Amino acid sequence: MRRVLETAKNGWRRKGVEMRIIKARDYNDMSRKAANIISAQIIMKPDCVLGLATGSTPIGTYKQLVEWYEKGDLDFSEVTSVNLDEYKGLNRDNDQSYYYFMNDNLFSHVNICKERTHLPNGMEPDSEKACADYNAVIASVGGIDLQLLGLGHNGHIGFNEPADSFELETHCVDLTESTIEANKRFFASYDDVPKQAYTMGIKTIMQAKKVLVVVSGKDKAHIVKEAFFGPVTPRVPASILQLHSDAIVIADEDALSEI
Ligand code: F6R
Repeated sequence: MRRVLETAKNGWRRKGVEMRIIKARDYNDMSRKAANIISAQIIMKPDCVLGLATGSTPIGTYKQLVEWYEKGDLDFSEVTSVNLDEYKGLNRDNDQSYYYFMNDNLFSHVNICKERTHLPNGMEPDSEKACADYNAVIASVGGIDLQLLGLGHNGHIGFNEPADSFELETHCVDLTESTIEANKRFFASYDDVPKQAYTMGIKTIMQAKKVLVVVSGKDKAHIVKEAFFGPVTPRVPASILQLHSDAIVIADEDALSEI
């Protein structure tokens, strides 16, 4: 079925499904718009569960949230968070672990209760146990109100890499060459880059009440087109978000330059 695009002042809206694509001028504008939506979520439901992402794209969003917290406009005291993923085998003190990233970019700067912040346990060597434990954590917090996502160059969300089928719940993934290559810049050498990660599954992401994707840059333009304007396929994991009933993509002009 061919989906009809409706042009709006600020972007596009697909008829029949709720995915909204909001055009931002640039990275800063994207970050402010995303932070606005997260703030609204926290204001509307102070004890909400936020699904959080790492990577370079949400850094500006977190900075903006911290700024608003410092101004007294935001209160994280009742918020719970569950992160998408964590490298397997990286110690929490390692500055490349996602645990470290979240503390560095958000948790240490706001009044979130650390006991209510959750990531998969990268130091659990037993993958089955690590995944079962994290599924139990997600169930215990009662599901996710708003899931923030970045978009990988190959269409991955979390570390759900292109595959023959959508993985449902938390699982251990072998990272693809392209992901290892993309991450290499953060490590001393290729050998130091973790080759596996624990990630939330697609079903869990799709069960979030609201999904917010942030995308920036010309290097993402091709995958934005494939993921949000192409067929839904596990070969492009983010394409499943087209079927979510409340998904918002905030992309800057560069990321939308192939649309
Ligand atoms: C991070 C994550 C990844 C990133 C993606 C994009 O928790 O799950 O899916 O969102 O790799 O990364 P950046 O934003 O660095 O381009």
